[in-house]
Amino acid sequence: MLTTSALPSAATDNQYLAAALDTGNGYIKFATSNSEVLIPSLIKQVSDNNEYEYSASSKGALIEFVESDRSELNGTRWLVGQPAYKEFPDSHDRITDDRQNKLTYALQALCGCLAVAPHQKEWSLALASSIHDSQVYGAKLKEALNGSHSAKINGKLTTVNIRTLALDEGQGAIYYGIKRGILPRDAQTVLLDIGFGTTIIAVYNGATILRASRYVHPQGTGKLVQMIADHIETRAFCGGVSGDPLLIRQGIETDFQYGRTSWNFKEVYLAVLMDWVREVLGPCLKKVDTWLPSSDFVLATGGGALMPAMASVLAKKKIAVLENSQMSNVLGMQAIAQQKK
Ligand SMILES: Nc1ncnc2c1ncn2[C@@H]1O[C@H](COP(=O)(O)OP(=O)(O)OP(=O)(O)O)[C@@H](O)[C@H]1O
Ligand SMILES: [Mg+2]
Repeated sequence: MLTTSALPSAATDNQYLAAALDTGNGYIKFATSNSEVLIPSLIKQVSDNNEYEYSASSKGALIEFVESDRSELNGTRWLVGQPAYKEFPDSHDRITDDRQNKLTYALQALCGCLAVAPHQKEWSLALASSIHDSQVYGAKLKEALNGSHSAKINGKLTTVNIRTLALDEGQGAIYYGIKRGILPRDAQTVLLDIGFGTTIIAVYNGATILRASRYVHPQGTGKLVQMIADHIETRAFCGGVSGDPLLIRQGIETDFQYGRTSWNFKEVYLAVLMDWVREVLGPCLKKVDTWLPSSDFVLATGGGALMPAMASVLAKKKIAVLENSQMSNVLGMQAIAQQKK
């Protein structure tokens, strides 16, 4: 369901830049027609009464709200992205820690992405933004983002004017598939979005969702990361305690090395992968089994589809992987924002 904002604004429609924000449980993604940003979904509020020295990062920023329509944020300071982990490895917040965090931290996440995009003193954004359940959270997501917000982003004063279009996660990915010519406009497609905190399955007719088919499974690849963190071999390496989820996530994305140590956890990953597939993908596919025989395409998207060995696991279930799968949702939403603004 598309829900558009009716906010009045000083800027005319064509001064608004079509953009998209996907505040994921694992990664925050942002796109305009000429930039793409991907930063980890990590946040830390830092004290506002001591001068905080912060070194610039290509994966995040220090955000200081100066004058925002969200007045409760004025005067608050936040590390967004990798710096939140670097400075506070044990005490940062993650989007995935609370289902409300996609609302609570939406504006901080957006500002963190603007820090990584080329600097502008002012942005006016026609912003498509997704959430796992737009029927429940769409209006609140718009409240969290809409309006005018002045903030120092890595020390540079920036004003952001936002009008939000709230979408369901997945709508952007389907639109991306259609726009790229991968999916015909009249195809029936089952889309499986393997995220960090949720796995979402839904059937689409063209770009239109069959609402009754949509199922949000409350676990994603974060569950697999936790299974590895709690595995006996991980605990043996970590002195009898669970491993660090962020180091495990990074290892899965690269070479299975645990941080800068000499320990490689590929065997542990392969040992728990099929248990995870049964626990997480099994229930999702079951939810759409009545639609599967009549569907033209069954596609996986989300960063989880890129995990090692996943493509072959999915292929055995006759599920193909959508190209650019981690960014497909945000890129498709940017195209929707462009069309709707
Ligand atoms: N190139 C890659 N190789 C291996 N794993 C990857 C790759 N890219 C992403 N991942 C993994 O995919 C997982 C899901 O990432 P994704 O960005 O889709 O989650 P998210 O959208 O933030 O979460 P959610 O959809 O639950 O909000 C993460 O665990 C990440 O480590
Ligand atoms: Mg996602």
